[in-house]
Amino acid sequence: MSSRKVKIFVAEFLIFCLCLKLSFGGIIDNVVEQYAFDESEENVCNLPDTLVKEIAGYQNTVNRIIKEIVNGKFKGKTWDSLATLTDTFGPRMTCTESLENAIDYVKENMKRSGLENVHTENVTAPWWIRGYENADMVKPWKRNLPILGLGSSIGTPRGGIIADVIAVENFDEFKTIPEDQVKGKIVLFVPPWEGYEKTVVYRSEAASVAARKGAVGALIRSITPFSINSPHTGHQNYASDVKRIPVAALTVEDAQMMLRMYRRGQTITVNLEMSDRNNGNCVTRNTIGELEGTKYKNTSVVVVSGHLDSWDVGVGAMDDGGGAMISWKAVEFLKAMNLRPKRTIRAILWTSEEQGLIGAQNYLEDHKKNEKEEFNFFMESDIGTFEPRGLDFSGNADGACILKEVLKLMTSLNATEFSQPTDGGPDISWWTTRGYPGASLMNKNEKYFWYHHSNGDRMEVEDKDTLDKCTALWASAAYVISDLSVNFPRSLDSN
Ligand SMILES: *[C@@H]1O[C@H](CO)[C@@H](O)[C@H](O)[C@H]1NC(C)=O
Ligand SMILES: *[C@@H]1O[C@H](CO)[C@@H](O)[C@H](O)[C@H]1NC(C)=O
Ligand SMILES: *[C@@H]1O[C@H](CO)[C@@H](O)[C@H](O)[C@H]1NC(C)=O
Ligand SMILES: [Zn+2]
Repeated sequence: MSSRKVKIFVAEFLIFCLCLKLSFGGIIDNVVEQYAFDESEENVCNLPDTLVKEIAGYQNTVNRIIKEIVNGKFKGKTWDSLATLTDTFGPRMTCTESLENAIDYVKENMKRSGLENVHTENVTAPWWIRGYENADMVKPWKRNLPILGLGSSIGTPRGGIIADVIAVENFDEFKTIPEDQVKGKIVLFVPPWEGYEKTVVYRSEAASVAARKGAVGALIRSITPFSINSPHTGHQNYASDVKRIPVAALTVEDAQMMLRMYRRGQTITVNLEMSDRNNGNCVTRNTIGELEGTKYKNTSVVVVSGHLDSWDVGVGAMDDGGGAMISWKAVEFLKAMNLRPKRTIRAILWTSEEQGLIGAQNYLEDHKKNEKEEFNFFMESDIGTFEPRGLDFSGNADGACILKEVLKLMTSLNATEFSQPTDGGPDISWWTTRGYPGASLMNKNEKYFWYHHSNGDRMEVEDKDTLDKCTALWASAAYVISDLSVNFPRSLDSN
């Protein structure tokens, strides 16, 4: 999951507020009546009985899918495949040989595992190289600081920069510090964890905000609720109007210590050296394999997806090896069970998500011409593959009613929860923010950001039985949606 999502979310939120204002500013007398009507429409489903019965009719098939994956011949296979992938290729950073080798491996093995129309599609992605990175606190005492440069950061001059540190909790506090005090300093932002969406803006914007006042470097407290002194990386963006300065993440412990010291009036001096650099673009690939539908082939496709690329730390077992693997295995296991739905289920393992949803963006552009005919539903797992709870839905009220019926089939997995958050999966947001329906795997991911973008993202985060349940939910939901007699409802923009 990257920060691009947040921007889309913010944009959506603004649009939502604007719409609310416009519609409420209209005929004031009708507001109450209108509101009551809207609410009942949102909460009460009036699906045709035949459709409700049709969906309920999938219970035996869904039970069989769940049984085979959780307790039958596919038991443990998702975790085993993920372990093989991550043990063999390690982390899969955009524009590295290990990512491209992993893509070739997945492509070959998708073919071997019976997927159809297996191929890759080229993607042009930004090429950021993490170089040598070192930070030492040199005053008031010596300490080597574990750091991770943020994606797209430039480096320092050779030998690094030595500067005093200004530590603030947030952007508002930074506003109160006069420009002449910031000039030539390294600015450290130490925002408390307030959930990812809210806190990640410090990762995205720290360098630009600090540079605007003449800072020579920026540091952030890692974007995580929990730490054993591990830094967490992630993408950042330079605003177009600022001088680019190097930016890196400190551990929670070091960042908070420096904030305490700064507030006591102690002078903190840091020597920051980074040889990170941007190296133009490279060509990478989305990896695609299908279970072709009986009635529709490359129209009305149900996409199941996760991203195959990762950061260069850890092995990307959780972000997003798990999501990529359940998408591949869901299709593989359905095929092995001879379950072929009416619509094609297309597994897409996105590339370069971490650099700003690049693989999915390229895919959108390449498939835009016939997208209304080509796509029916978008699924994405990129917020963890812990114990599944249900599905987070993006779409309209009719779609919500259908998905709620589908989720009733997942009782034996205890994964029947439905929610409709404002932000769905990041890669599929290219479609869901334009009215295409989609779902993201809702799971017990309270610890997701403990490991996210850190060296802790290893296979040990993933549990064998839990991963089976995720694959089972993923395969069951994809199967039912792709086999329904009706197309999934959508509310496309007029453009
Ligand atoms: C994809 O990229 C590779 C490597 O850059 C290139 O050789 C190949 O022709 C490209 N394929 C397509 C269909 O553009
Ligand atoms: C549909 O798929 C077939 C076979 O893969 C291909 O030949 C055809 O060009 C595709 N049609 C579209 C509209 O993409
Ligand atoms: C099912 O999930 C709910 C909500 O997450 C949880 O409270 C409950 O303990 C779970 N039940 C079982 C049998 O796992
Ligand atoms: Zn991710």
